[in-house]
Amino acid sequence: MATMDEIVSLAKRRGFVYPTSEIYGGLANAYDYGPVGAALLRNIRNLWWREFIDKRLDMVGLDSAIILHPQTWVASGHVESLTDPLTEDLVTHKRYRLDHLIEAHDKNLDVSAMTFPQMVQYAKDNNLKSPEGNELSEPKMFNLLFETSLGAVSGEKSVAYLRGETAQGIFSDFKNIVATNRVKLPFGVGQIGKSFRNEITLGQFVFRTMEFEQAEIEYFFDPEKTGWESLLDSWKADMEKFIVGTLGVKKDNVRWRRHTDTERSHYSKDTWDLDYNFPFGWKELWGVAYRTDYDLSAHQKHSGVDLSYVDGDGKKLIPHVIEPAVGVNRLFLMVLSDAFTKEEGSDRVVLRLSPAIAPYQVNVSPLLANKEALVEGARKVFESLVEKGFRVSWDDRGNIGKRYAAADEIGTPYCVVYDFESEEGKGVTVRSRDTGEQRRVNIDELTQMVASEKINF
Ligand code: GAP
Repeated sequence: MATMDEIVSLAKRRGFVYPTSEIYGGLANAYDYGPVGAALLRNIRNLWWREFIDKRLDMVGLDSAIILHPQTWVASGHVESLTDPLTEDLVTHKRYRLDHLIEAHDKNLDVSAMTFPQMVQYAKDNNLKSPEGNELSEPKMFNLLFETSLGAVSGEKSVAYLRGETAQGIFSDFKNIVATNRVKLPFGVGQIGKSFRNEITLGQFVFRTMEFEQAEIEYFFDPEKTGWESLLDSWKADMEKFIVGTLGVKKDNVRWRRHTDTERSHYSKDTWDLDYNFPFGWKELWGVAYRTDYDLSAHQKHSGVDLSYVDGDGKKLIPHVIEPAVGVNRLFLMVLSDAFTKEEGSDRVVLRLSPAIAPYQVNVSPLLANKEALVEGARKVFESLVEKGFRVSWDDRGNIGKRYAAADEIGTPYCVVYDFESEEGKGVTVRSRDTGEQRRVNIDELTQMVASEKINF
């Protein structure tokens, strides 16, 4: 498996991820996605949307605001409960999550099962120090909601929050969605968008950041007609199928873990995490929770608006919810880790991404950049592939070997070269990323090959 250093270095070298604001010295744990990173993110998002919304009759999409009415977060319980245990190094003033320090102190301890008072007691009993060896402050529960202020109202600014999860936009739009779409229970609403949390400890590259992107689904159902356990199981199966089947991730690198009673969020009756074996260990990739009718009931109570649903038999109810919620940036880091391959005995890196998500499906080059006829012919191949809807890159720099190496490092499955034989109507050379094998094909064969997404000839 690749190390984090290797992944971070490739990501920077090839333009997947840059540290943000680098010309000003950077901003801790904030990142920009470069040209191929933006393409990879977009492909992941598009596939998620296609699999979970476009292809299903029981799903609709949404794009709600980032700054919702502040009461949303009071009603949802996040103002009260979106907290992590915080402690500070009394010398360096670096802040740490107490559960992370305890975990590092005793790897055999199940910290997820500990309550906050138990963690505080453990820290006292074990005279826990910071990683720098200094005394720690008295731990406290710290709220992660990202505060901002809304304009000036009579000289005073009013507090608002950047959303801590995309889910609340779905709950607060529930009434509108039911009224304006021909949906009937069970049905789900999905959305992709940025969320923000004042995380205490960040790091591990894009794994945990303050600004991140979530792809969340709220799947509404009548608990008297649909059993929540079987629904949760079927969502677990769909999530795993997306990771292993659609994104092409190795099955051995994912596993399920159930949340302990103390670890579960305030709104959940049962939560499972699909963990991925990242270079820094098994960590949460994608969670699925049974949120009951907690959110809709809370919003009904706080807003005074009736959020019930009336089914075909005239039965009135507040639907319950199963919520599969994933971080798009974690999916991104997962596919980079999973695809990173170093050829034995050489420094050659190949990113064996599934063709479905590779930033480009095919690269086109003229054999020689200074032969006008070859450039023109290659340009026509490029245009015809783009016309057909493929994601195509163009490279006429350096020698062919360097172009292949650059394409391998960003995971392009096929490289096409237009050469002198192409000028004689003998098709183009196509090379496979994973085997290095080359073939001569005409444009129709090339089109079929790229569309088939089979990398091995
Ligand atoms: N609506 C439920 C919810 O937000 P969560 O487990 O806090 O649940 C869902 O977040 C997913 O969002 C996580 O499984 C993870 O993939 C991603 N995520 C959460 N916090 C993140 C952060 N600080 N940076 C990157 N991704 C994060």
